[in-house]
Amino acid sequence: MHPLEQLRDGALHEIESASDAQSLEAARVKYLGRSGSISAWGEQMKTLGKDEKPMVGKLLNQVRNTVTAAIEERAQKFRTERESDALANVDISLPGTPHERGSLHPLTQMWERSIEIFRRMGFALADGPDIEDEWHCFDALNTPPEHPARNEQDTFYLPDGRLLRTHTSTVQIRTMQSAPPPIRVIAPGAAYRRDELDATHSPQFHQIEGLYVDENVSVADLKGTLEFFMRELFGPDTAVQFRPHFFPFTEPSLEVYVKSKALKKGEQWIEVAGSGVVHPAVFEAVNKARGDNAYDPGKWSGYAFGLGMDRLAMILFDIPDIRLFAQNDLRFLKQFV
Ligand code: PHE
Repeated sequence: MHPLEQLRDGALHEIESASDAQSLEAARVKYLGRSGSISAWGEQMKTLGKDEKPMVGKLLNQVRNTVTAAIEERAQKFRTERESDALANVDISLPGTPHERGSLHPLTQMWERSIEIFRRMGFALADGPDIEDEWHCFDALNTPPEHPARNEQDTFYLPDGRLLRTHTSTVQIRTMQSAPPPIRVIAPGAAYRRDELDATHSPQFHQIEGLYVDENVSVADLKGTLEFFMRELFGPDTAVQFRPHFFPFTEPSLEVYVKSKALKKGEQWIEVAGSGVVHPAVFEAVNKARGDNAYDPGKWSGYAFGLGMDRLAMILFDIPDIRLFAQNDLRFLKQFV
């Protein structure tokens, strides 16, 4: 037996009988460490003659590889043992570390529910900017310069004359400017008025605008759509009432009230939307801006509505104060998981 083979067998025996990681490491240093006995053979190679060198070199490589592999194998065994020991001490019946679950803001939930209902009726989503010009907010919506809504006391004006839109009805105009009829869109978004902040008023509030333009659209279509929407939202027992009202951009105009036993405020009628049949003057203003007669009032008719999202969410979730929506109090927000 070549002395290298003897060395190998001794090393393998020692590795095999190492009882823990420490004695295994000692064996590694002894044989493979910088001044270990296998390493020393590497040094000795230089002194060998030409005829011996290839044979011994080959054997040395084999021995080094065998011993290295044996050490690695044994080390792996110790590692596995340590891990399963650690796991054996884990009490899987202990409660885990809870992860806090986030939730969507109640207004966002309200929006998502509403949009889902209108989508089923074939409405597409439309959008427009919060910062508007007077023309989109008022003139095009048949709202004359002397109308109180345009008063500086009621609206936020920017120094350049633009304003924060007072309603989402601006999106009616923008949608009709960009596409010919038929139109069937809803536009969720924020609106702004110079209201004193109290339990039911906020200078920023939220609406969903609706616009439907086609041939032969009537008040009956409007009523059917909004009744369906309210019943989907508040339950089949919801009663919907339409009361005559005035908006410059619709004629006739109707305010929408709901009452439902399923609601906390079950016994009273609550106003939730403004609506009406699109005024021909609105079509004319759009035509003028488009430079065509796409919205010929003799051919097309339509209805529009503006749903108060904050109000609807307050009813649905029984929220007593509109200010809660903007205060970011976690005790409030956590109730809507
Ligand atoms: N824009 C009206 C408001 O904010 C609501 C409305 C929308 C009325 C569309 C009629 C038609 O009060």
